[in-house]
Amino acid sequence: EKAGFDHFMLKEIYEQPKAYRDTMGSRIDEAGQRIVLSEVKLTPQQIWDIHNIHIVACGTAYHAGLVGKSVIEQLVRIPVETDVASEYRYRSPIITAHTLVIVVSQSGETADTLAALREAKRNGARVIAITNVVGSSVSREADDVITTWAGPEIAVASTKAYTSQLIAFYLLGLHLAQTLGTQDAAAIQETIAALQKLPEQVEQLLGHAEEIKQYAEQIATHDDLFFIGRGADYAVAQEGSLKLKEISYIHSEAYAAGELKHGTLALIEEGIPVIALATQEQLLEKTVSNIKEVKARGAQVFAIAFEGNHEIAKSVDLVFEIPRTLPLLAPALSVVPLQLLAYYASLARGNDVDKPRNLAKSVTVE
Ligand code: M6R
Repeated sequence: EKAGFDHFMLKEIYEQPKAYRDTMGSRIDEAGQRIVLSEVKLTPQQIWDIHNIHIVACGTAYHAGLVGKSVIEQLVRIPVETDVASEYRYRSPIITAHTLVIVVSQSGETADTLAALREAKRNGARVIAITNVVGSSVSREADDVITTWAGPEIAVASTKAYTSQLIAFYLLGLHLAQTLGTQDAAAIQETIAALQKLPEQVEQLLGHAEEIKQYAEQIATHDDLFFIGRGADYAVAQEGSLKLKEISYIHSEAYAAGELKHGTLALIEEGIPVIALATQEQLLEKTVSNIKEVKARGAQVFAIAFEGNHEIAKSVDLVFEIPRTLPLLAPALSVVPLQLLAYYASLARGNDVDKPRNLAKSVTVE
């Protein structure tokens, strides 16, 4: 059942190219020009009437929602807030009939996410669910459902479900953009072409898993480390940090790179590993200056950057290169080495990778 892999998690990491292809599937027209999201029944008029969007989820799905916020805001310029479901449901969120609520849940059974969905509906919002389980509670109660076709995810640590959720956000963002006309046809086609390349690019970087394994064995001896990034890189940093904590039990924190100097820099000392996500080109110069700040205090910096980025390569101790794509789509590539990092660090520490302590695959209690 693990198809020759030692663990479900590794199998699921390697299933990502297929999960991307299946989730895009027939949702892109044959000419590669338009998104065809027929399961979203919102009419153009209803889309025009959206004033704001709330994305609500837990854990890794919440991190997909952080990327979703930047995707939608960039493509359609509608204000988006992303919330943790357990906070959202109790904070009296300001929901109107013009609010679109997007709930994200691999299992579709997470109690807090389901409660948030109900709260949104009670307040008159339209709800779209992004879920991996057809017929799940979340899918039954939402108005529209975008199924991620990642296939069953067994490992407690979510991998292919997260990346399929990213694909769902790209599709939804483009669908809204083409309806509202906020992106021209050429820009939509360019993004679709880049999306279609992602599966092959993931295959390419999985071919370099050995480099990550070696680095993971190094960090496995540490008790603390940091992830830094700006913009979409910050969202991916948060997911990388959660993945690492969840299965390797190494303490880590993800920081918006520009926020370090407001306190956290005090924790940077000789030899501490810092993992810098540096794919967002418009922010690169700023990220490089944050890398210099930590290096000056003795940090060992490992960067994830697009191939051929010499500026980053010369500023850090080690770089893992990912294939080039649009900055908007970079999370769908940059998270993969972080999943492998968590996997190999957990393995190096002798942990139960697929069933980490204290955790359950689906949290159906509050
Ligand atoms: O099934 P869901 O997507 O609603 O689950 C949400 C979280 O419990 C889940 O993503 C959790 O954070 C994962 N174990 C992370 O790897």
